[in-house]
Amino acid sequence: MKLFVDTGDIEEVRKAAEWGILDGVTTNPTLIAKSGKGFKETVLKICELVPDGDISAEVVATDYDTMLKEALEISSWHPQIVVKVPLIDPGIRLVKTLSDKGIKTNVTLVFTVGQALLAAKAGATYISNFVGRVDDLATDGMQGVVDTVNMVDTYGFSSQVLVASVRHPLHVLQAVQAGAHVSTMPLKIIEALFKHPLTDSGLKRFLEDWNQAGLSIF
Ligand code: E4P
Repeated sequence: MKLFVDTGDIEEVRKAAEWGILDGVTTNPTLIAKSGKGFKETVLKICELVPDGDISAEVVATDYDTMLKEALEISSWHPQIVVKVPLIDPGIRLVKTLSDKGIKTNVTLVFTVGQALLAAKAGATYISNFVGRVDDLATDGMQGVVDTVNMVDTYGFSSQVLVASVRHPLHVLQAVQAGAHVSTMPLKIIEALFKHPLTDSGLKRFLEDWNQAGLSIF
């Protein structure tokens, strides 16, 4: 499963990129606004920090003509950019236009398998299935991922299922179990994936024993 970091914060991208395990970055208008920096400058810096990754940048218009203009502008900034498009009526039309032109897309705000089917049929590169926001409504958000992965596999769509709105490491485990292609998450969730108390206590013991024996590598 590919790991993306979900942020508009350059320093967070830099940190995640240093591990060498990052496959891409997702942003959204809220995250870019929170960064306090310009959209284009932020996205271009992210492309530089993650040179082999897919970097999602979202259109903000809601009518087809303006969405298309925005999409063509955003995608002209850098070859790594994936145009993020909300799952609305003109959005699906836009995804079809962009996929016919060979421009990668990430359909966002997908909550049902019906919506995911529309995105897949339009040729979406990624289908962003939101989990945490559904869990917040006391409903199992991960079921939408399971259904979408099954739908994509059953019919042989080329779209990749991207688990979004990830709130904790258990979501990552469930995304793996569902066979999702990608998970995007805040940096703090990637950091949490490192953690296990037995790793910490095990390492402490190894180093104590080594030092007590007076050993050295060099
Ligand atoms: C995905 O691309 C979205 O940016 C993100 O995962 C939304 O997460 P949230 O529900 O925690 O805001």
